[in-house]
Formats: sequence, structure tokens, C-alpha cells
Amino acid sequence: NFTSVKTLSESPDFNNSIPSSYTFDNENEIVTDPDEVNDPIPVIDYSLLVNGNHDQRTKTVHDIGKACEEWGFFMLINHFVPKSVMEKMVDQVFAFFNLREEEKQEYAGKEVVADSIKYGTSFNVSGDKNLFWRDFIKIIVHPQFHSPDKPSGFRETSAEYSERTWKLGRELLKGISESLGLEANYIDRTMNLASGLQMLAANLYPPCPQPELAMGMPPHSDHGLLNLLIQNGVSGLQVLHNGKWINVSSTSNCFLVLVSDHLEIMSNGSYKSVVHRAAVSNGATRMSLATVIAPSLDTIVEPASELLDNESNPAAYVGMKHKDYIELQRSNQLYGKSVLNKVKI
Ligand code: SIN
Ligand code: FE2
Repeated sequence: NFTSVKTLSESPDFNNSIPSSYTFDNENEIVTDPDEVNDPIPVIDYSLLVNGNHDQRTKTVHDIGKACEEWGFFMLINHFVPKSVMEKMVDQVFAFFNLREEEKQEYAGKEVVADSIKYGTSFNVSGDKNLFWRDFIKIIVHPQFHSPDKPSGFRETSAEYSERTWKLGRELLKGISESLGLEANYIDRTMNLASGLQMLAANLYPPCPQPELAMGMPPHSDHGLLNLLIQNGVSGLQVLHNGKWINVSSTSNCFLVLVSDHLEIMSNGSYKSVVHRAAVSNGATRMSLATVIAPSLDTIVEPASELLDNESNPAAYVGMKHKDYIELQRSNQLYGKSVLNKVKI
């Protein structure tokens, strides 16, 4: 068992100064608000991809490709996942974190790939020198669906949410395949998405009395193809764009789409997995929910041969089984793109 940030911050003898194990030397890094940069965060209208209008699809595919190249990040609107389903899911995640600590700790000390559900804190406790102001639960929901038994209603809600986001992710990846000049089903087929890995990762960032000293999550990029992220009304996500940290404002009703490592690898680096981190604040509890859309665990992910050319575009990454990639990430304390750099040629 471990002490969650939630328990720590709510304990009666917590005196509003955070333990030194949670503090960082946050060098005075400049964080930029989106309205201060010339190029705005790309917004993609999903409905234009799937409404049957050929010209609108062509334009949207082009816009998606540009967003994946230049940002590795975009906001997805008009995605047809009902607002009610998203809101119910957010409520259920809060209900999970509000369970008694003993009920949550049933899932402590697990490994997500082997055990399917893992409750934890920080980023990678075994390796973290300093702790992060974050509690989390990770749940594998595809190819087999799993759910904690409590709170009541979590199973039904997460099943519906998982199914909808899985379909959305697979459909979006068709547009992404086309944007790379490949046939629509290319990624679905070569990444074996019929038995692909889908994981929900819910993060809780309790209010932090000294937010300038703490961090919610360190800079990192995600494994998998895409991360479809939602959050409660509190901002905190920052993405690295052209060497600057950009604050992503709180958003309702849209998905924040993060290009992840395996899409960078299969596109041979033309699409960039986005480095991102989470800041904390002292006002309110923040919650974010990532849905990772990823190749099947046995898929060897390597640059698509159709995109390579011996002279002008040789393979820039070695192939690695998805499972082994996750293990490398798990067993090392690697931040930023350091796992990705291990497969770079
Ligand atoms: C993530 O790293 O996937 C989530 C970060 C966040 O809380 O916004
Ligand atoms: Fe992430």
C-alpha cells in the first residue's frame, strides 16, 4: 500500500506545506498561453471527415496531417460522443477516487499489462526521485474489457465510454492513414487493431497548496498511436510546441488528441508524438482521463515500408514489439522522449 496524494492532502495534520519529496527545482520556465502564439492549436471538425462529402473529407484529412506534423496535437470537435456519456464518465472517475482508500488499494501494487487494473500515485514510484502530485488508475478495456467492481455504475459507464472512444479512435486513424498517403485501413490492419490495446488512464490532481513547487506529471510522450484526452473544467495540461510550453485551456465537450510514440514510429517520424506534462494548481481538484488507442501487444511496430525510400527516407526507428516497448518504459525512469530515442536509428 502507498499514501495517495488525495489522502495526504486531506489528512488533518497536513499543514499546507508539501513534503520535500514532492518538490522540484522548477527553473523559471516560460509557459505561454495559446493566445500569445501566432499559430493557434489546431482544431479538427470530425463531422467533416465522416459526413460523406468527398471534398470536406479531403480537406479534413489534409488538416489532420498538418496538425500531426506540426504539433502532434489537436482538438477534436463534433465527434458524436454524447456529452452525457462524457459527463457520466467524469463523474464515475471522481466516484472511484472518492472510494475509501482500502477499497482503491485492492488495485495497488499491480502491473497494468499483467493485471489489467492498476491504482497508483506519482509517475513511476519505483523510479521517481521526487514524487508527482498525482494519483491514477489505469484499466485495460480492449481486447478484453475490465473494470473495478466499485463504485456502482462504473462498469456500465466505462463500457459505453470505452466502446465509443474505441470506434472514434479507429475511425480517426483511417483519416490519419489517408493523410500519410496510405489506404484508409492501413493502420487498422498493420497495427492489428481488431485485437488492439485500449487503456483508460484516469488522473487525479488534488489542490496543491504550493503549486509552483510541485508537478502533476513530468514531461513525457505516450506509448500507443493516439491518446484521446478529456478533463474536468480545470486546466493543467501543457504541450511542448517549437520549444515552448503551451498551456492548453480547459475544454468541455472536445477531445484533446495527442499523437503518441507508435504513430511517430510507423510514420517514420513525419508525425511527432507530442511531449506534454501536467501542472497543478491550488484552487481546485483537476481530473483528466486519457484513452490510449494502441497496437495489439504482439504487434512489432516499425516504420511503414510504403513510406520509406533507401536514399531519401531510410528507416529512422528499429521495430519493437509493443509489449516490449511498454516494458522498457515501465522498467526505466525515462522522461521526455527517452523511450522513443531508444528505438531511434
Ligand atoms: C497524460 O499525460 O496523458 C495526461 C496529462 C493530463 O493530465 O492532462
Ligand atoms: Fe501522457
